[in-house]
Amino acid sequence: MPDEPTRALRTPPSAITAAAVASFDGCGDERLREIMQSLTRHLHAFAIDVGLTEAEWAQAIGALTATGHITDERRQEFILWSDTLGLSMLVDALANPLPEGATESTVLGPFYVPGAPLRDYGANLAEMAAGDPAWVHGRILDPEGRPIPGAELDVWQNGDDELYAVQNPDAPDDHLRGRFHAREDGSYAFLAVRPVPYTIPSDGPVGAMLDATGRHPWRPAHIHVIARAPGYRTLATHLFDATSGYLDSDAVFAVKPSLLRTFAPHAPGDPGAPAGVEGPWFSVESDFVLSPATEAGEPKDPGRTA
Ligand code: BEZ
Ligand code: FE
Repeated sequence: MPDEPTRALRTPPSAITAAAVASFDGCGDERLREIMQSLTRHLHAFAIDVGLTEAEWAQAIGALTATGHITDERRQEFILWSDTLGLSMLVDALANPLPEGATESTVLGPFYVPGAPLRDYGANLAEMAAGDPAWVHGRILDPEGRPIPGAELDVWQNGDDELYAVQNPDAPDDHLRGRFHAREDGSYAFLAVRPVPYTIPSDGPVGAMLDATGRHPWRPAHIHVIARAPGYRTLATHLFDATSGYLDSDAVFAVKPSLLRTFAPHAPGDPGAPAGVEGPWFSVESDFVLSPATEAGEPKDPGRTA
């Protein structure tokens, strides 16, 4: 006989994919089955697409191993991969199909710490010197433009040293963070500082990937906000300084044009200066429009806190 039987024994790559996909056929959880089978198909297609070599796959396993080793309760390198590959923003967009007029969401980031102090209307976020004062004000509204009295803004930002309080052992715990409640007319205000661009943590495997691919780790200047009110979807978003560097190359793809805000300059002695501000300062106006919750009950906060 010619070599017919030998050929018949060969296993093509497509048979490997088919077997791996079929291994989940018996999964009783329909959604889990869908996710695992689609993931397997896409992973296999990716390996075929790039002709993945054994050395490259070993390198990828090394990066995943390093990701596990550097991750702890303070450092979440897996989420940083998700952020820098644009996946966090994609999942956020899929989860938040907002109605026209509602304020757009963006990434929460790793520096959110729940439990910021409740501060009065107009209070100062900074508990030590942190940069140029910025008076941030506006209203919290529903999509029809009606105020949402009592709505909460949970705010955090970095100072001119590029650090969030949680990154800086010399800063008081509540430095540059606070919660504010909207007044009866939906208005809110707080005294922030003008934020500055900063780098995402880049001393681990994600930083190595950015370096190897010619990308940078910078984020444009922004202030983080979570807006919450009973009966409305919780909104995690940023106010971006419209003149910041890196707006067109944010390392985590979080910039949306609707979130750019003007930091208007004011000279010393401007009669509208916030209490206690003597030098130059900035003002920023920003309304937040919340969409009604889709499910009954309290809106859920974003799941990520580290
Ligand atoms: C942040 O804005 O705080 C952030 C977001 C994603 C990754 C790293 C930092
Ligand atoms: Fe940030």
